[in-house]
Amino acid sequence: MTHWKRIAVVMLGLSGLAWAAELPQSLRGATPVSDSASPPPMAQYPAKGAALPRTLEHQPPLIPHKASYPITLERNGCTGCHDPQRAAKMKATPTDPSHLDGQGKLKNEYYFCKQCHVPQQSVAQTSH
Ligand code: HEC
Ligand code: HEC
Repeated sequence: MTHWKRIAVVMLGLSGLAWAAELPQSLRGATPVSDSASPPPMAQYPAKGAALPRTLEHQPPLIPHKASYPITLERNGCTGCHDPQRAAKMKATPTDPSHLDGQGKLKNEYYFCKQCHVPQQSVAQTSH
């Protein structure tokens, strides 16, 4: 082994040690495994909200209100307000035309709204 190669190997070894000293941080913080950590705060979504700014073009807009409306095989709690036929009355933005088939009916692949649209809330991370 040449001299510079040996130095490189020693340097690599040292950087490995430095890396090992930075242990991964658990979401439990410093709470020992034998104790129960306090749960993080629950997100509180507003019942009503105004449209949130979009970060990029064609981004599925964020839901500015609670998103616990049921979406089941029988009914979709979101279309009650966002269906283009009802949206104006409910003061909500109608679903994007891309979500509808030619006859104005919601396409199956857009049925589960929360696959793409998510509510927003800033939840402060507590130290345990
Ligand atoms: C009670 C009526 C109502 C229901 C039910 C409802 N919304 Fe809304 N939604 C609104 C109103 C009002 C707004 C605010 C006006 C706006 O920006 O459309 C809004 C805004 C939004 C926006 C933002 C639109 C934009 O242009 O930024 C999205 C996305 C959205 N809702 C998705 C959903 C989803 C997904 C569901 C079901 C989980 C749902 N909504 C259920 C009334 C409703
Ligand atoms: C496959 C992903 C996907 C699903 C599922 C989906 N959306 Fe969207 N939605 C989008 C995208 C992407 C946009 C933005 C379209 C754009 O700006 O080109 C959008 C836009 C919207 C908008 C804003 C329209 C506007 O004119 O600004 C509303 C409201 C909305 N969707 C409601 C819904 C509702 C309600 C459902 C369920 C019935 C739903 N979406 C399902 C992806 C989705």
